[in-house]
Amino acid sequence: MDLQDYLKAVAKKIDFEADEYSLAVDTTLQKASSHLLLGGGKRLRPALLLLSADSVRKGASEDLFYAAAALEWTHTFTLVHDDIMDDDSLRRGIPTVHTVWNQSTAILAGDVLYSKAFEYICRVNNASDSAKIKAVQMLAHTCYELCDGQQEDMEFETRSDVTLAEYLGMVRRKTGVLYAAAAGIGAILAGGDMKQVSALYTLGLNTGIAFQIQDDIIDLTVPSDISGKNQGSDLRENKQTIIAILAREAGVDLSKYKKAELSKEDIDEAVALLTSAGVVEKSKGISQKLIDDAKQGLSVISDSGEKSMILDMVDYFINRSV
Ligand code: IPE
Ligand code: IPE
Ligand code: MG
Ligand code: MG
Ligand code: MG
Repeated sequence: MDLQDYLKAVAKKIDFEADEYSLAVDTTLQKASSHLLLGGGKRLRPALLLLSADSVRKGASEDLFYAAAALEWTHTFTLVHDDIMDDDSLRRGIPTVHTVWNQSTAILAGDVLYSKAFEYICRVNNASDSAKIKAVQMLAHTCYELCDGQQEDMEFETRSDVTLAEYLGMVRRKTGVLYAAAAGIGAILAGGDMKQVSALYTLGLNTGIAFQIQDDIIDLTVPSDISGKNQGSDLRENKQTIIAILAREAGVDLSKYKKAELSKEDIDEAVALLTSAGVVEKSKGISQKLIDDAKQGLSVISDSGEKSMILDMVDYFINRSV
């Protein structure tokens, strides 16, 4: 199957589950927790989980839908909280949870999604109890690491000397570990051995970093009506993204864009400046190198249609514009 058709099919199933969830919810808080789930999204972490499971044991994904949903609920929890931290008003093309309700409700709505994720992951079929425990442990530890990544992302806002190595470490935790868990949990629940689990986990980790680099490029270059998110949010918040770090190396001063509101002219000017300084191109070079290296590590997984789709998916991670 073609990757884009596969991704559409997974998204349809997750969208259906999001609809079911929203129909079952009742209170104000529960409704707030369903808001962003209903906004769509690419559903890439569920897709990676299911492909990883099938690459280890063909057909395994049929029993693992709820683990895939668990990853999407976890991801959505992080987005709800992230939008508070980044002071963003638009996500998945709709208003963010804290702008529709308020900050306290959005914190709780994220917590509800986080809790639900653990209920979901326990609902998988045909996995051994020990595999389920390992999967739950991996998800819990991932959330723990992800919080540290997010904390560091915010601490970096006040610094002007963040190195590329520090950036890569931060991004590894705020974004890489969740892709790693998606691939790792798929492999664990499919009954994979240590080598297979570790290879898929590592692929998710390193390509997740590349995914975040592309996200940084999208934040700068893609208009909100296409990305569904606030363009220029990272500039406004003085985020130490790959763009900001390479801009500093190239002698481009972005400090004037750190302000409450950025106009379309501000953003266009920054894009032109950064493009002509080669910053966008250099960022793309780094993400390309990451995925090329990561793909090499998948040699312990036997060739299959699912493995090919995983390899196509990581190319898509860095070629996408949403
Ligand atoms: C956005 O993730 C948050 C990051 C880790 C960069 P996605 O780009 O996967 O967002 P959705 O789920 O498609 O909305
Ligand atoms: C956040 O990174 C990654 C998360 C853990 C949610 P960003 O702050 O860049 O994500 P977006 O751009 O808002 O989706
Ligand atoms: Mg954000
Ligand atoms: Mg953020
Ligand atoms: Mg971003």
